[in-house]
Amino acid sequence: MTFLQSQAKFRNPMLKTPKTRRSIDTLYLKTYGCQMNEYDSGRIVDIMREAYGLRLVDAPEKADVILMNTCSVREKAEEKVYSELGRWRKLKQSRPDIIIGVGGCVAQQEGERIQKRAPFVDIVFGPQTYHRLPEMIHQIRRERIQLTNIDMPEIEKFDHLPNPHAEGVSAYVTIMEGCDKFCTFCVVPYTRGPEISRPPEDVLRECRQLLETGIPEITLLGQNVNAYRAEDDEGEEWDFAMLLEAVAELDGLKRLRFTTSHPMEMTDALCEAFGSIPVLMPYLHLPVQTGSDRLLRAMHRGHDRETYLRIVETLRKHCPEIALSSDFIVGYPGETDEDFEQTLDLVRRVGFDSAFCFKYSPRPGTPAAHAEDDVPDHVKDERLQALLALMKEQTRSALAKKVGRIENVLVEGKGRNEGDMQGRTPDFKIVHFRGHVRQIGQIMPVRITEAYGQSLRGELVIRS
Ligand code: SAH
Ligand code: SF4
Ligand code: F3S
Repeated sequence: MTFLQSQAKFRNPMLKTPKTRRSIDTLYLKTYGCQMNEYDSGRIVDIMREAYGLRLVDAPEKADVILMNTCSVREKAEEKVYSELGRWRKLKQSRPDIIIGVGGCVAQQEGERIQKRAPFVDIVFGPQTYHRLPEMIHQIRRERIQLTNIDMPEIEKFDHLPNPHAEGVSAYVTIMEGCDKFCTFCVVPYTRGPEISRPPEDVLRECRQLLETGIPEITLLGQNVNAYRAEDDEGEEWDFAMLLEAVAELDGLKRLRFTTSHPMEMTDALCEAFGSIPVLMPYLHLPVQTGSDRLLRAMHRGHDRETYLRIVETLRKHCPEIALSSDFIVGYPGETDEDFEQTLDLVRRVGFDSAFCFKYSPRPGTPAAHAEDDVPDHVKDERLQALLALMKEQTRSALAKKVGRIENVLVEGKGRNEGDMQGRTPDFKIVHFRGHVRQIGQIMPVRITEAYGQSLRGELVIRS
């Protein structure tokens, strides 16, 4: 589909009388969802800064262009979109000249339905079309229309993005888009499209640009980074382990991370990388969803619990100190007490340091939505509470083990209390300590003195 064919145009009912437009200077951007969305939002700011010189502001009331980057992974996430839009409607009534845009995964799924429900929305754009925002804004300002553009051109956006603008000490770099796994409960394959990898030269260039600005840490991003497969200019095929090695060798890189990986593509070479690449940090988020073989099959996850446990064993063989985290869904259709026991058992056996736990939420258009959502809400709640309690215990014990040790902390910024700085250990634990803003971006040795529920406290080790 070409750009023009895929555009839907409507006259904007809220702009009846054309008048001279004033300039647009400020941008407000609200982001929901995963790191992919956070990365995209960063790039949207880059694009708008380059195209219109827009300045980012912290409240929609102060902005000429108001954008939302949405998530549809669970029903709650989607509800937030319409409640936020309810507030934005009033802004549009008092200042009809502002431009309101909705992008991301809800936009991809809902398309023009968003403007049917919220007619004051000027632009609907998808995760693969945000690079066209300046063009779309230009067009709606000129023609006073509404636009929807949610086609999925093959990774074209990466060829149209300005140089990344990095802030803070850690930067995301998207290396692949989309998902081909089609887990039965999940909307992502529909909202983000098929798995497509960026050429290695592109990824390395973007990493180099970030490192030149002094960024010490890079996180490679994708829905399934380990499905990465791309050809370089010479026609050689790269997989994720090769890309990791190449990024790891870039000048200036102090810490390398990646997220998210799928157990099915956790190759031995990739597990080994945690032992052989010094800048690759000993932390891995490896979603498993459930510990029940029956449910893993029903969800189309493509592996059983034994396979997952074997991967964990291989990882620990190469990198004994690796910290693991995961995602869990409780109350998937048909989940019995026995299935849930299997999940608790897997959590104990692996000894995850942390996890994100969700109640199953049926998503329109997914295969699981055809099954009856038969686990009563109070049972979902009970299971969620039981799982969270177990995780809390495991997080506490992982943190308690750190007391007395000296950890290399990458200083990220100010802590909550006056005079406190905050940073991360190699295995991604948050540490607070008395420090100074000039340490931001540096890796400092910190002796851990105390463990809290979710974080650590320590003191700087002064080396003579
Ligand atoms: N690509 C990643 C995760 C993407 S979505 C992966 O495969 O691991 C992030 C998490 O949201 C999932 O791991 C899952 O735990 C949760 N999730 C996705 N769909 C859901 C649904 N319908 N209900 C509840 N949780 C869901
Ligand atoms: Fe969703 Fe499964 Fe793809 Fe992850 S692997 S994004 S859970 S379909
Ligand atoms: Fe949500 Fe889309 Fe990410 S559905 S989790 S924002 S890929």
